[in-house]
Amino acid sequence: MIYPSWALDGEGDGSQRPNAPALRALWAERRLSNALLDQSGVWRFRELLPFLDTPEHAVTLREGNTPLYALPQCAQRVGLEKLYAKHQGMNPTGSFKDTGMTAALSVAREKNFPWVACASTGNTSAAMAAYAARAGMRALVLIPDGKVAWGKLAQSVDYGALTCQLKTDFDGCVRVLAEIVERAPVYLLNSVNPYRLEGQKTPALEMAEQMGWQVPDHILVPGGNLANGAALGKGFREMHALGLTDRLPRISVIQAQGANPLYTSWHEYKGERLEAVQANTRATAIRIGNPASWKKTVHTLRETGGFCEQVSEQEIAIAKAEIGAEGIGCEPASAVTYAGLKKLCAQGKVHREESVVLVLTGHTLKDPEYTIDFHRGTLLTEAETAKLNASEKESLRKLAKPPMLLEPTSDAVLRQLEAVGSK
Ligand SMILES: Cc1ncc(COP(=O)(O)O)c(C=O)c1O
Repeated sequence: MIYPSWALDGEGDGSQRPNAPALRALWAERRLSNALLDQSGVWRFRELLPFLDTPEHAVTLREGNTPLYALPQCAQRVGLEKLYAKHQGMNPTGSFKDTGMTAALSVAREKNFPWVACASTGNTSAAMAAYAARAGMRALVLIPDGKVAWGKLAQSVDYGALTCQLKTDFDGCVRVLAEIVERAPVYLLNSVNPYRLEGQKTPALEMAEQMGWQVPDHILVPGGNLANGAALGKGFREMHALGLTDRLPRISVIQAQGANPLYTSWHEYKGERLEAVQANTRATAIRIGNPASWKKTVHTLRETGGFCEQVSEQEIAIAKAEIGAEGIGCEPASAVTYAGLKKLCAQGKVHREESVVLVLTGHTLKDPEYTIDFHRGTLLTEAETAKLNASEKESLRKLAKPPMLLEPTSDAVLRQLEAVGSK
């Protein structure tokens, strides 16, 4: 990204650089403004997003400005003092995709494209459909038949997108879309679109701001198509280069074991090559076997000294319930971050005094079926349950809070109250 008048390459006497305290103050001041652009947690940082001819024409739903929550119970469980969740599920359509979508769709509108299109595991399509509707543009969504959480499919149709469920997986949808963009004047809004990454770098700015412009020691993100880790890496790199922060955080990527091409690439080929896998995980948002942005993410892992871990379906399920029990909640793909953190702590790769941020990418209501199945004890198969160790079995027993069907009497309810109270 070229900045209007700031030298990022260390050349000159430094006078080309922005005045970091003034920039921080300007961004904070905008939070008090009623102007539409200022109320967006993306466009509030517009000095670092210099690609629209007319920024005032940005298509925004007041995305970003998401909370950074402390997770004291999870922290205690893994032996950390400072553990936080940056909850990107608190965006307008319930996922981190909104931050990139406001940026890229604004470009599509400025270029006068009639149609925007994406292949999606659900959240990109929900975000694109919403922003296209706000912009008065038409949206084409390609999603895999089945394996898309209902909440996300509902959003796409609710916002009026032409929603096509293809009889293939996400990777198959990407292949079809690549042909469509060659044959029709549609603007591609998958995360290979560079403006998506520009928008998705802004949560890094928010995190630094929320921590008093101190960079956390370690950030964990889920890995699917592998754009998000790269975008956050870009955000932190730019802040550092501009003198807004004094260092980079470690950025680690966690994948589901059933959809782990980066994990395999990192551990078997040192990130030099990536072999596509047949992806399979209940964390449908990251059910991706041939990720587009793997090279950018490898760069981020190398540059920041990050780790790449994989976690099982059982580990994801327990981690999600533990985050939920803190009153936060997230979708399964987001919970891989906490499951991965547990592994890294057990391996001695994260230390007690480090400040750690889990990026929770999606809202718990995106996939309520998963949550209900977990609490009813029907999520995991018998074979999966048999593989749990004693402490995981105990966690599962303690965490499960299934809804109960009772006779409509106070006695019936009070009996349950007593039973729970005596446990
Ligand atoms: C909730 C959620 N988490 C994580 C991801 C993975 O992000 P990325 O594809 O940028 O790796 C996605 C992608 O769809 C998602 O929807």
